[in-house]
Parts: sequence; structure tokens; C-alpha cells
Amino acid sequence: MSISERKVCFVTGASGKLGSEIALALAGMGYSIFFTWHHAEEKAGMTLEKIRRVSPESQMVRCNISNVSEINQAFETFSSQFERIDLFLAGASNFYRTPLFEVTEKEWDSLLNTNLKGTFFTMQSAARIMLQQPFISRIITMTDISAGLVWRNYSPYTVSKSAVQHLTKIFARECAPKILVNSIAPGTISAYPDSSEEPENNLTEKIPLRRFGDPEDILVAIRFLMESEYITGQTINIDGGRTVY
Ligand SMILES: NC(=O)c1ccc[n+]([C@@H]2O[C@H](COP(=O)([O-])OP(=O)(O)OC[C@H]3O[C@@H](n4cnc5c(N)ncnc54)[C@H](OP(=O)(O)O)[C@@H]3O)[C@@H](O)[C@H]2O)c1
Repeated sequence: MSISERKVCFVTGASGKLGSEIALALAGMGYSIFFTWHHAEEKAGMTLEKIRRVSPESQMVRCNISNVSEINQAFETFSSQFERIDLFLAGASNFYRTPLFEVTEKEWDSLLNTNLKGTFFTMQSAARIMLQQPFISRIITMTDISAGLVWRNYSPYTVSKSAVQHLTKIFARECAPKILVNSIAPGTISAYPDSSEEPENNLTEKIPLRRFGDPEDILVAIRFLMESEYITGQTINIDGGRTVY
């Protein structure tokens, strides 16, 4: 297998708020980017345009990750255009309020099929490629501090993120030593460049460092994990100390 020299990141959910910032920053770090989007075509197109200013060969594809045949198609497209994966970043995810006694089957299936099933099958496809490569590569899953907390009104979401943290350990164990697999669990991240959201000050009282995170706080951890060669199966909470209470 001939391997091109330029490193490649495959990112799911780069049409998202944080996902787009991460993909853009990875492009700025010298990676070619292949990313997926689902509904947000305009945001995806704007993100690709920005990414291509620094990484012209980058590509995107529409993919509903809750559908395994769409995942397979996305990976076929990827493999026809790129020869390697250095980082697979599993960012695509659904998040909405679901009070415990009002959760419907449809909501449960939509949250679990995207956040857990979709993450599992995209990781499986990425790992199959990565295990064949003659170099160490990395998977980072995006979870949430709520995976380790008991949040009211978000049970399917928090269960899905908790399960993905467990999947992270399973893949770390099964894919060692070829693939380093870790998870990043953000607390509340705000201050997105395209957003008009105003942080709610009273919520920061629960955060020892007295502010919400911003995308750069997450990027610091991604850069760290990309350099590290002796960390696998771990979750890094990036939450200003929110989970210390
Ligand atoms: N931002 C935060 O404050 C925060 C906090 C904790 C954890 N996180 C985690 O960090 C990651 C990135 O967050 P974010 O802010 O970018 O999330 P976001 O703005 O909600 O974006 C979610 C992304 O997932 C994609 N997606 C949703 N359902 C999908 C499906 N069925 N198939 C394929 N793609 C699908 C969306 O695509 P379309 O928009 O194109 O449909 C979008 O790109 C997520 O895993 C999230 O849970 C974020």
C-alpha cells in the first residue's frame, strides 16, 4: 500500500458548532480533512470553503450515521479519495431535552442510533483501515461530562455518551498498539465565532473556573492527544472543574 505523506483526519459532524471549529483547526495544523454532515448543507459548505483555504484537497460527504449502509458508502467515497487516516474524530451527535417520563421510542431510537450505534459503526470502519496502516493512528470520540453525572431530562443522551466512553475503552484495548483511542468530554462550550449566544452568567456559578469553555479549550486537548504516544482508553473532562463538585 503506497501511503501519501500528507496526514488525513476523518471527522464526523463537522457541520456542528464545535465540530466545525475542530475540523478547521485540524486543517490549520496541516491535515487534509474529510468530513461528514447530515442536514446542515449550508453550514457544511461554509465550513468546507474555510477549510479549503488552508487544506485545498479536503472533502465532505453527506452521511446519516444512524444508517450503516450510508456509513459504508461514506467510507467507500473516503477510500477512493484518500490513502490514510491519521485521526478519526467521532463528533456527530444528537442532543435534545427528553424528560424521563415523556421519552418516546422515536426519540430513544434517534438519540441512541446516532450517538451510540452510529459512533460504533463509524469507529469500526475507521479502525479496519487504521489497523492495516504501517504507523500509529488515533481515534478521538466526543462525549460529554454528563456521561458521568445524573442529569435530569436528558436520559437517552447521557446514556449514549456514557456508552461511548465505554466503547472508547473497548476499542483502545482491542486496537492496541496500532490505534490510540481516547475521548474528550466537554462541559458547556460557548463563544462560537458564528453564534450570537450570550453565556448565562448564573450557570457559571457551578463552574470553579467561573466561565464556560470555548473551542480553543477543546483544541488544546486534541493537540495534546495527537502528540501523546502513551495515552489510550482515557476520557479527558474539559469543564472548568464542573465535575469536581
Ligand atoms: N458544543 C458543546 O457545548 C458540547 C458540550 C458537550 C459535548 N459536546 C459534544 O461535542 C461534539 C460536537 O459538538 P457540536 O457542538 O459540534 O454539536 P452540534 O452543533 O449539535 O452538531 C452535531 C453534529 O452532528 C451531526 N449529526 C447529528 N445527527 C447526525 C446523524 N444522524 N448522522 C450524521 N451526522 C449527524 C450534525 O449534522 P447536521 O447539523 O449536518 O445535521 C452536526 O454536524 C458532539 O459529540 C457533542 O455531543 C459538545
